[in-house]
Amino acid sequence: MTYEPRPTFPPDIPTDRPTPARIYDALLYGKDNYQVDRDAAARALTHEPNARLVVHENRAFLRRVVEYLVNEAGIRQIIDLGSGLPTQDNVHQVAHAIAPETRVVYVDNDPIVLAHGQALLADNPHTRVITADLRDVDTVLNHPDTRQLIDFTQPWALLSVAVFHFIPEDPQSIVAAYRAHMPTGSHLALSHLSQDATTPETAAEITAIYEQATAPMVLRSYQDIAGIFTGFRLVPPGLPLIMNWRPGIAPTDPERVWLYGGIGRTE
Ligand SMILES: C[S@@+](CC[C@H](N)C(=O)[O-])C[C@H]1O[C@@H](n2cnc3c(N)ncnc32)[C@H](O)[C@@H]1O
Repeated sequence: MTYEPRPTFPPDIPTDRPTPARIYDALLYGKDNYQVDRDAAARALTHEPNARLVVHENRAFLRRVVEYLVNEAGIRQIIDLGSGLPTQDNVHQVAHAIAPETRVVYVDNDPIVLAHGQALLADNPHTRVITADLRDVDTVLNHPDTRQLIDFTQPWALLSVAVFHFIPEDPQSIVAAYRAHMPTGSHLALSHLSQDATTPETAAEITAIYEQATAPMVLRSYQDIAGIFTGFRLVPPGLPLIMNWRPGIAPTDPERVWLYGGIGRTE
């Protein structure tokens, strides 16, 4: 008997260079990464021993953000830009624990996210994962899966958690293009690494790691991150370091986590 070789991932998944999604997965102790990603994560840990805490705090921030959006702001439709590989407490799982009818569209430009996301979501009618570049706003908004799940006449939430620091272009104008399709009561949630909250040495070492990756790391100042919320009103407590945004019960040393994060609402 002859066997067909097992299908491997699509050929457009690069295995010779690390990708942001897979480095992040490696830092979260995930299994959907390659040696090249684990090497990059190990290098990051050499220069930033808190790297695992940073990504853990970012996931905790994301969970609190979704709980706020669904529980307190009444949001029932979410587009999650740069969603990353499935892990624990994925956006749709947090949302569905509160409101099972919430629709979620995951968007990522790394094809490995689609490969693993589709398996997770196979039987979930309220959730889709699409492969698209978030900078291509028309493609994201007009994708058939987006059109099927998101009603743009109703408030919706745009998540961009830990993703704009991989985008060299001006995030404010990209968000403005989405904002044009967000009716009153819609929300933007964001976290972003900032050189203002770490040392110049750490900032330089970590950005250098991403020079060999499929996307560069672009740190921004607090002022530039705040500017992404142009056209939105920040909800309390504003734009603090992420562990101070509606903090959980276990306090984290502010010196150790260098992302700012918050939620803005369209008026
Ligand atoms: C650090 S992960 C964040 C994952 C998730 N949002 C979270 O906070 O846990 C960043 C993700 O953004 C994705 N990404 C980077 N550039 C992108 C782009 N131009 N368009 C869509 N996704 C992008 C990466 O592939 C990666 O999965």
